[in-house]
Amino acid sequence: MYVCDSCGGLLDVHHDLDALKPTVTRALFESRLGALDAPYNSGVWRYKELIYPDISDDMIVSRPEGNTNLYRQASLAAWCGVDTLYLKHEGENPTGSFKDRGMTGGLTQARRLGMQRVACASTGNTSASLAAYAAFAGLEGIVFFQNKQVAVGKLAQAVAYGATGVRIDADFDKNLELVRTVSEALGIYVLNSVNPFRLEGQKSIMFEVLQQLKWNVPDWIVVPGGNLGNSSAFGKGLWELHHLGLIDRLPRVAIIQAEGASPLYEAYQRGFDRLVPQKADTIATAIKIGNPVNYAKAVRTIHWTNGVVESVTDQEIMDAKALIDASGIGCEPASACSLAGTSKLVEAGIIQRGDSVVGILTGHVLKDPEAIINYHSDQLPHIRPAYPTRLYESGPSVEELSRILLREPANPLKSVRG
Ligand code: F0G
Repeated sequence: MYVCDSCGGLLDVHHDLDALKPTVTRALFESRLGALDAPYNSGVWRYKELIYPDISDDMIVSRPEGNTNLYRQASLAAWCGVDTLYLKHEGENPTGSFKDRGMTGGLTQARRLGMQRVACASTGNTSASLAAYAAFAGLEGIVFFQNKQVAVGKLAQAVAYGATGVRIDADFDKNLELVRTVSEALGIYVLNSVNPFRLEGQKSIMFEVLQQLKWNVPDWIVVPGGNLGNSSAFGKGLWELHHLGLIDRLPRVAIIQAEGASPLYEAYQRGFDRLVPQKADTIATAIKIGNPVNYAKAVRTIHWTNGVVESVTDQEIMDAKALIDASGIGCEPASACSLAGTSKLVEAGIIQRGDSVVGILTGHVLKDPEAIINYHSDQLPHIRPAYPTRLYESGPSVEELSRILLREPANPLKSVRG
């Protein structure tokens, strides 16, 4: 069951926060930091009372996930025009994206329900994560891809983890429709973000950020938006923390979409009158989504947190990615929306220089190696690399190599450090 019988909207997991209030304290979560044993060694299950309070520990499917780094990189903050910028790297999860935090929740519920098969449609990361977690739990994983534009790192993962993969001549939005219909007919459990247990896991990103900041609330959380599962989960998680008194105010959430896949941004511009689906197209293939299923929950996040929605071009995404990569942190294209979007919101005067910002990096740099090579070798249509790294060729000659190495070093961050 994923939708409400009467209104057709997506379901939420509802926690009895008033009953949890006496036991759920900062001290409880502090006491589990550094835990070596399951389930509290996971950055999701450390917050078990707010994820799935009554599940028995032996039902939990955990790798474990989470415990990802929160980086502070002065050069990237300077490039954006803010004093304080943190990057939360969700690409450091077991399969290289934030989806693992959702999948631990989803697979745990699949096991509890006694399901044998789990399925998703995916732009790539959900399928990599589902394939791994299904294999780990001993269930069959089924993944529907579009037959073009799936980043090679992601496709390879689903195959490696042994999922039943189907490439379909349709885009993500159509594939999601198909997986929901086929799964209903065949009794397969759907683990796209229509599944509320996925979002429960993903909201732990906010819990972990706040705990890493010693519960000091940043002014902004900036997150890429595709199917809007993360954006929805973040709003719910932050609202819960606030209701429980673990934080004293809510940060503002900024959702950043790629210009070619920006139905939420378009709706935001029109005062959220309604969602008008688009035919999506962007180099950030992870978020090439034109009809986000979590639209209503993402709008709720914007309302709860006094948030904003922005869009960025593919050029802006790839240049921001080049800088994140050259800082040594690295991420996949969609993740770079966080940096590109922060910079744009500073330019627009919405984020102030003195504001503290946490940007979410959603996927690992190795997910999409083709995008990297094509950017730096200037092979991307309609994109000119502003921060190229040159790859040199040399014969096996000391003179030739010396000539190369005696040139002025060209790290793109040198110029932005100013
Ligand atoms: N960043 C990355 C790297 C993603 O893989 C996705 C979504 C998003 C951002 C957007 O997150 O959908 O919660 O708004 N990828 C999905 C997938 C759609 O199939 O892997 P969202």
